[in-house]
Parts: sequence; C-alpha cells; structure tokens
Amino acid sequence: MNQALEHVHDVLVIGSGAAGLTTALLLAQHGRVAVLSKSIVSEGSTFYAQGGIAAVLDSADSEDSHIADTLVAGGHLCEEAAVRYTVENSRQAVEWLIAQGVPFTRDEDEDAVYEFHLTREGGHSHRRIIHAADATGRAVETTLVEAVRNQPNIELFEHYVGVDLIHGRKLGLKENRCFGAYALNKQTEEVELFRARFVVLATGGASKVYLYTSNPDVSSGDGVAMAWRAGCRVANLEFNQFHPTCLYHPQAKSFLVTEALRGEGAVLRRPDGTRFMTTVHPMAELAPRDIVARAIDHEMKLTGSDCMYLDISHQPAEFVREHFPMIHEQCLKFGIDITTQPIPVVPAAHYTCGGVMTDLSGGTDLPGLYAVGEVAYTGLHGANRMASNSILECLVFARAAAEDIVSHWAATGAAPEAPAWDASRVTDSDEEVVVSHNWDELRRFMWDYVGIVRTDKRLKRALTRVNLLKQEIGEYYGNFRVTGDLLELRNLVLVAELIIRSALSRKESRGLHYNLDYPDSNDSLLKPTILVPGSF
Ligand code: FAD
Ligand code: SIN
Repeated sequence: MNQALEHVHDVLVIGSGAAGLTTALLLAQHGRVAVLSKSIVSEGSTFYAQGGIAAVLDSADSEDSHIADTLVAGGHLCEEAAVRYTVENSRQAVEWLIAQGVPFTRDEDEDAVYEFHLTREGGHSHRRIIHAADATGRAVETTLVEAVRNQPNIELFEHYVGVDLIHGRKLGLKENRCFGAYALNKQTEEVELFRARFVVLATGGASKVYLYTSNPDVSSGDGVAMAWRAGCRVANLEFNQFHPTCLYHPQAKSFLVTEALRGEGAVLRRPDGTRFMTTVHPMAELAPRDIVARAIDHEMKLTGSDCMYLDISHQPAEFVREHFPMIHEQCLKFGIDITTQPIPVVPAAHYTCGGVMTDLSGGTDLPGLYAVGEVAYTGLHGANRMASNSILECLVFARAAAEDIVSHWAATGAAPEAPAWDASRVTDSDEEVVVSHNWDELRRFMWDYVGIVRTDKRLKRALTRVNLLKQEIGEYYGNFRVTGDLLELRNLVLVAELIIRSALSRKESRGLHYNLDYPDSNDSLLKPTILVPGSF
C-alpha cells in the first residue's frame, strides 16, 4: 500500500471536541495518539457551549442533590450508577480543566465561598455551573487545542472524515476487535487507512438530522452510524433535546441564547408581553428544558407567532453586559440590545441524549472500541439531559476510557494489516443534486414529523420516507466516489431511521419524547430503548 495512505498509532481518536481531546491528552504519556477532525480542530459543539459545566464545587451544594436533580430531569430513566459515577467525579474533572489553564470566571464577591463564579440553569436546585462568562466552550476548547498542539505524542489530522471502522469480522479474523478506521482526507479526496490498537469515537451528536439546530455542521451522527454498522447496540435515540431559546432572526444561523440568562432572572414572554411559564411549572423559566421547549412550541402554535421572547431587560445593563458579553455583542449585530429589548427566541434541536451503548469505562460492544461524549449512551441523561451535564460527561468518561485503555495496554498487540480502501468500482458523481436534495428532504421531515410533539402516524410517515431515502442513498454510495457530504448524508439517514424506530417503540411520553397518542408516562415501561444491529 502507498505508505502515505496508511497511518499506524497506538490509539485512534475520532473527534476533537472536549471528549476527544481530553482522551487524547490523558493517553499521550503512554503512546502515540492520532486525532481526526472533520473540519478545523476546534469546530464542534464544544466550542459553542455557553452556559458552563455542572459540578459539585460549593460547600453548600452536595453530590446527592446533583444526583437527585439529574434523575428528576432525566424522567427517572437515567442509570443511577452512571449518574453517581459522573457526579462523584465532577470536581476532579473541573479541577483538571483548571489545571490545564481554562480561564473560568472568578467570583468577585468578597463573601463568596468558592473562588469561581457559579451560575444556575434549568433543573438545578443549586448554583453549580462553573463557566467562562457566556463562552465557556470556547475557553475549554481553545485551552485543550493548545495543550494538544504542545504534545508531541499527539498527531492531529484536520479535515479527515472517518468513514467506517475496521474490525475483525470485516477482516475475516476470528478475533472481533476494532483495529482502526478508514477516513476521507478532504484535501486530497483519497480515503486513507488508520490502524490502531484502540479506537475512541468522540464524534459528538446528531442534531444536524433536524432542519433547525443549535449545533455546528459537524454534528451528523457519524459515530453512531459507524458503530451501528460495526455491530454495536445503540440506546435511547428517541430522546432528542430541543433547546428552548435559539435566537430567531433570518440572518442568525444556529445562535443559542444560554439558559444561564434564565438562571440570572430572564423571563419568557408572549408577543403581548405576558409571561406563561409561571402557570406551566413550579420552577417557571427554570423548569427542565423539555418542559420549557414544549411550552414555547405550544404558545407559538396557540398564538400563531413565529417566536416567543426572552427578557432580561429588567436587570441592570452593566450586569447584563458583564455576565453575557458575547450574547450582548452578537444580538447587537442583529439590531437587538438585550439590556433594553426582549430577545426573539425559538426552540431548535440541541442535544442527542441517546447513542452508542457503553459501560462505565466508555467501552462498547466491540472490544477495543470506546465511545465518549455526546456520541455515547452512558445512561447519565435518561429521557432528558440536565443543562451543563454534557461537557461534564465528556470529561469524566474520557478519563474512564483512558484508564481502561491503559489497563489493557500491555496485553493488547499491534493492529493487524488491513486492505487499502477500494475505489476501483466507483466513478465521480454525475448528479450531486441527489445529495443536496436528500439532505434537505430528510432534515425537513425529521423536523415536521419527529420533532418536539410526535404522533404514531407522523412517525410511521417518517419511517416510510426514510426507507426510500436509505435505499436511494445506498445505491448512490455504491456507485460514486465518496465526498464529505455523501458520507454525512449516509450517516444521517441511518441515524434518522434509528431515531424513528426508537420513537415508535416507546409507547408513552417521557422527558423529551412526547407522543400525543400516549400523552402520559407509564412506569411499567421504565427502561431504555435498546436497538440491536441485525434485528430489523
Ligand atoms: P463535539 O464537541 O461536538 O466534537 C465532535 C468532534 O467530532 C468534532 O471535532 C468533529 O469534527 C468530529 N467528528 C464528527 N464526525 C467525525 C468524523 N466522521 N470523522 C472525523 N471527525 C468527526 N453542554 C454543556 O455541558 N454546557 C453548555 O453550556 C453547553 N452549551 C451548548 C451550547 C451549544 C450552542 C451547543 C451546540 C451545545 C452545548 N452543550 C453544552 C452541549 C455540549 O457542548 C456538547 O454535548 C459537547 O461539547 C459534545 O462534545 P463532544 O466532544 O462529544 O463533541
Ligand atoms: C446553555 O447554555 O443554555 C446550554 C447549556 C447546555 O446545553 O448544557
């Protein structure tokens, strides 16, 4: 094989957000690590995170309280062991970030019991969100990227799209382990081979399956699709979180207005200025996210309005500018001064609660393959992720996976030889329009039929359409040279199918899954939805 098209490392990490970079940094002292990134290294949901990271840091707070809040927000569908594990490791995770140099906002109050400022978000009964003003993700990601760039044992491959995993079954071997992946080099348009002793999927979520999303373009569910094709089970994919407050403006592409605004007193109003959350939930604007998103959706449908309004103008202007400098500046660009005007907001797809099933070490059904971060289903989030528990999960499970990999290091041999990517039977596409058309169609019907409020009829309609698209995209994939867009579309259509099948199989409403045909929760169905490859 052309040597330039083959790479051999100890560990291959696919994804360069909080999950991928943390795993890579924790393993770099043990061996050579490759990190693949679909775009520039910093592009991913991590970079855009605003609110912060939930952790038990203040002596007035307690682990039991964080655990209880997570279980309630998760509709009691969380795996309690995963919740406990995450919360018990939360302080260590945040302290590691502080040691890496993340510039979290300090508490200037002389009487403060903790040196960093803690804010509050929906579902939390305490202030426990550590943050870097309103751009926490940017601070975390840029700090980690710098650390990775200074680590000679980590080799970074930007603009590489992981295509498929390489494993024993695929190679015709007796031992079914994961040995690496094929990845498309977007600059040369060649597919290259990455062999490794351990592989970590850290590819983020799948919110791009919906027409409107707070996520960047890279969130196309690639890791879930790759793991599924390699024989791994997935769980709870019906639980798609819609963030209640994304900026509603024709020129604002996926701009989130952090829940921390509500934590600092912002209220939701109808176009006529009246509040509505006070009659919906005892925690009003700080109710769990599923409830707030549904209430906004309901009000929009009831009043026929394009959006609702989030109002923090009653707080002193200086306070607003100091706590939310980035949002203040961004909104000003769209002609909205948040110190004096309410912000037009709508819900948008934000977070994929389900994913590739893992144990508490991040291990999947395929030996040698780990899944960390939003791509994974660890059991932490249940039917609804509580705000700011996500980056925490990335950090805690990155460490767990790294420790597990290290414990198997000595006993794990080199990855076997694998064939080069075979592109001999495909040609350049003559009809790119098929890809762009199917992208649009898929994301639109997912929004219309598999969105905030579902019915069995809509879900079945969506399944019929997804089956047609899957067939068409499969044929296209078999005949034409792969491109980044085609790979994403192939993954999105598969993840859409998994979401719809999961949603159809849950005959109740719980957390983020709301079905008008079964509007109540049914505790006899209190178990995760697990899909097994080959079962349909
Ligand atoms: P990401 O950060 O999304 O990174 C995914 C990586 O995988 C990227 O590098 C991408 O290029 C790469 N990738 C994907 N597919 C492939 C492929 N096929 N080949 C190669 N590379 C691939 N959570 C919180 O806890 N607190 C918050 O305040 C918060 N605010 C948020 C605000 C916004 C606007 C958004 C979108 C999310 C927010 N979240 C927040 C959620 C949180 O940011 C994400 O869940 C978390 O950052 C996911 O991290 P990750 O490392 O799993 O994935
Ligand atoms: C936000 O800042 O509102 C997002 C927090 C999160 O998604 O956890």
